[in-house]
Amino acid sequence: MPDTSLPPTLHDALANLLGPAGFLTDASDTASFCMDWRMLYHGHCAAVLRPATTEECAKAVALCAEHNVPMVPQGGNTSMVGGATPDESGKAVVISTTRMTRILNIDHADLTMTVEAGVTLKAAQDAAWAEDLLLPLSISSEGSADIGGILATNAGGNNTVRYGNARELALGLEAVLPDGSVLNLMRKLRKDNTGYALRQLLVGSEGTLGLITTAVIQLQPRPRSRETALCAVADAKSALALFAAFRKQDPAAIQAFEYMSGTSMALVNSLIESCPLPLSEPAPAYALVELASPREDESLRTLMEDVLGQALEDGLVTDAVLAESETQRQNIWMIREEHAEAQKRAGASVKNDVSVPLAAIPAFLEDATKACETLIPGIRVAPFGHIGDGNIHFNLVQPEGADPKAFLAQDHAIMDTVAEIVRKLGGSFSAEHGVGQLKTYMMPSWRGGAELETMRKIKLALDPKNLMNPGKIFPAH
Ligand code: MLT
Ligand code: ZN
Repeated sequence: MPDTSLPPTLHDALANLLGPAGFLTDASDTASFCMDWRMLYHGHCAAVLRPATTEECAKAVALCAEHNVPMVPQGGNTSMVGGATPDESGKAVVISTTRMTRILNIDHADLTMTVEAGVTLKAAQDAAWAEDLLLPLSISSEGSADIGGILATNAGGNNTVRYGNARELALGLEAVLPDGSVLNLMRKLRKDNTGYALRQLLVGSEGTLGLITTAVIQLQPRPRSRETALCAVADAKSALALFAAFRKQDPAAIQAFEYMSGTSMALVNSLIESCPLPLSEPAPAYALVELASPREDESLRTLMEDVLGQALEDGLVTDAVLAESETQRQNIWMIREEHAEAQKRAGASVKNDVSVPLAAIPAFLEDATKACETLIPGIRVAPFGHIGDGNIHFNLVQPEGADPKAFLAQDHAIMDTVAEIVRKLGGSFSAEHGVGQLKTYMMPSWRGGAELETMRKIKLALDPKNLMNPGKIFPAH
């Protein structure tokens, strides 16, 4: 256990500023903030700071900066790449947004919501829904992931296909910079060409340039009709053909279009009690399609039935179930959203959150599957994801009965094998999960040269002492 003590003057100043609820130093209180959701990283910290306001946060950051103490911003702690976990030195403080939970405003004229960073995505969605509006971002971890975290990581998820990533939804931002100054960009304008779009620099910066404290998020009118179906398909090629068929008829109606391999679906059905397969027999793959409209719209059902009817006739779809109630709809979504949890229960897994052009998905799946099965015989290839965005979670679960540690020791070999195929197909090694600490080693070969150098210059300009979320995005020199 490293020495996790803070300089006494800093300790007293922070304790004084934040009070007992906002300043945690006891190992039993800080432990959960030092481990990631996947339990891959076990760090240490000198303290967890939980400011209740931007002002408190800014003062705390200024104090830490003065004492050269590294800071790790943390939202709901659901990162898939260790992006919010401190290192093992015990020198850093975690700055958690969990006490900044106010929804400040919902604006019906501008269709915006102003929220503090610690509001969970689910709480923000529910608040919008209660006002007849939709916060159009949905991810599996939305019950814990918070607004600050989803913006800092530019989260994507299930509705990106229609509304874009978190980046597209962020109209305004407030952030505390690494020296403790407050950058107030809290505008709610759709048009504002006044120099660099600094908010977009903060979005997706994974907490390396500052800590997002408040945001203005774009909303939409809430859907009044939704049609959801789970379809059995032969493969990703058929799933993509089905996607194209819906897109041809009405691209604006597609709210989500998800893919699940037979292997990943079987893990969910067998390991999550509340998620049996709602079809008569297992299939090689599945597509989940959701259509939505802000109108009370019978024609959505007709569209769903027509496209699926034709797809069944053409052999693109071999079986399908349509949700007949909100409960059935939620059950279908639960199956999709429990994929990450089921894979966690199945043992150690290596995640490859990749994107490739849509047309390259079948070749990617085929080549990457072969390559991984050759690399580690018995490996369970369990891909799923947001196929409508070209984003596949090409996740590999350890062979049954294998030693989890030995399997994880091969993570770079697995990730590199997959990445090589992704590169050939013109894709990205991280579509929506970010770089975190898990994938920093890939940055030089993927984003090297002028691109990484420009990122370094920006980082250095805003954080010359490298105190804000060190060890993330950038590989160690
Ligand atoms: C999801 O879409 O459920 C998560 O992003 C995925 C994962 O487990 O890789
Ligand atoms: Zn995802």
